[in-house]
Amino acid sequence: MAHSRLTLALEDGAPSLPGGPVRVLRPPAEYDLSVLEKDRVEIAHGFKPDHDAWMTRGYAPAGIDPVPTIVVVVPRSKALARRMVLRARHEATDLVIVDGAKTDGVDSLYKACRGWAPVAGTLTKGHGRLYWFAPEGAPDWHVPDQMVDGFRTQPGVFSEGRIDPGSRLLAEALPPLVGRVADLGAGWGYLSAAVLRHPGVTALDMVEAEALALDCLSDNIDDARASAHWADATRFSTESPYDAVVANPPFHTTRKGAPELGQAFLATAARILKPRGTLYMVANRHLPYEGRLKELFAHVQELGGDAAFKLIAATRPRR
Ligand SMILES: C[S@@+](CC[C@H](N)C(=O)[O-])C[C@H]1O[C@@H](n2cnc3c(N)ncnc32)[C@H](O)[C@@H]1O
Repeated sequence: MAHSRLTLALEDGAPSLPGGPVRVLRPPAEYDLSVLEKDRVEIAHGFKPDHDAWMTRGYAPAGIDPVPTIVVVVPRSKALARRMVLRARHEATDLVIVDGAKTDGVDSLYKACRGWAPVAGTLTKGHGRLYWFAPEGAPDWHVPDQMVDGFRTQPGVFSEGRIDPGSRLLAEALPPLVGRVADLGAGWGYLSAAVLRHPGVTALDMVEAEALALDCLSDNIDDARASAHWADATRFSTESPYDAVVANPPFHTTRKGAPELGQAFLATAARILKPRGTLYMVANRHLPYEGRLKELFAHVQELGGDAAFKLIAATRPRR
């Protein structure tokens, strides 16, 4: 295996790593941390499947006290990347290392950091860059939350600062809902809020893997019928099946399209619905969901949509 940037840099002694814990912010499950002794590493990852992957391998979750070293693994969201660097500047006592892919904007982050941080060195390799600095300097970055229609959103969540047009279409097309409902991939709560406007709904479980989105949900949804779950929807199960499931399923992980992720959401819906329950979903027209829906449900019906999105109701999950 080719050496990762982190391995190359640390084996070369540039930067030289202080003793003590190393907190790593948002390393994807496949990120290479083999250069570090496991018992020194703390993982801070808000996305449940990645978090679970690291915990299963025996890594410790991050604490909140300052640590000597923080490694920022640059995410796709540029605003979230800045927030993570600000966090690292605040929580690291000795060293901040930033590592990312060019496609995720590491070069512009590097330039922006050099405006205020004492960047001591950099290594470019494998279509990416790693750089490091002592946690000094005064960043003048302001990375605000964004409000939309009274909802709070923040960097790193799906549809930050805007309502997803597919979710809006589904919210407007929902028939009267009654009983127990689940929202798979609830995000910052737009669809969940629409579900809760149905007076017949007695309970809503909002299932979401991204902790940043759950943080928004806790501000955006204030209803005794609603409960939020930090969970991987593809593994979610319940002892009290649902009358309805709503979903605008995710269809990519990082930059790669992953229709199988959305298809796994459909399988969960079929598994957690009552025998006469219904899945209401929206998807981009090009996504290949109908075949899988027909395997999972006895009745699949398109409810309309527009040129970009299809709305689908699927009833009677097959056991
Ligand atoms: C297309 S967005 C829909 C968000 C929200 N329902 C809306 O309508 O605005 C899909 C959501 O699924 C979440 N997600 C992705 N993978 C997930 C998983 N394995 N389990 C649960 N949620 C997941 C994403 O974080 C995102 O919030």
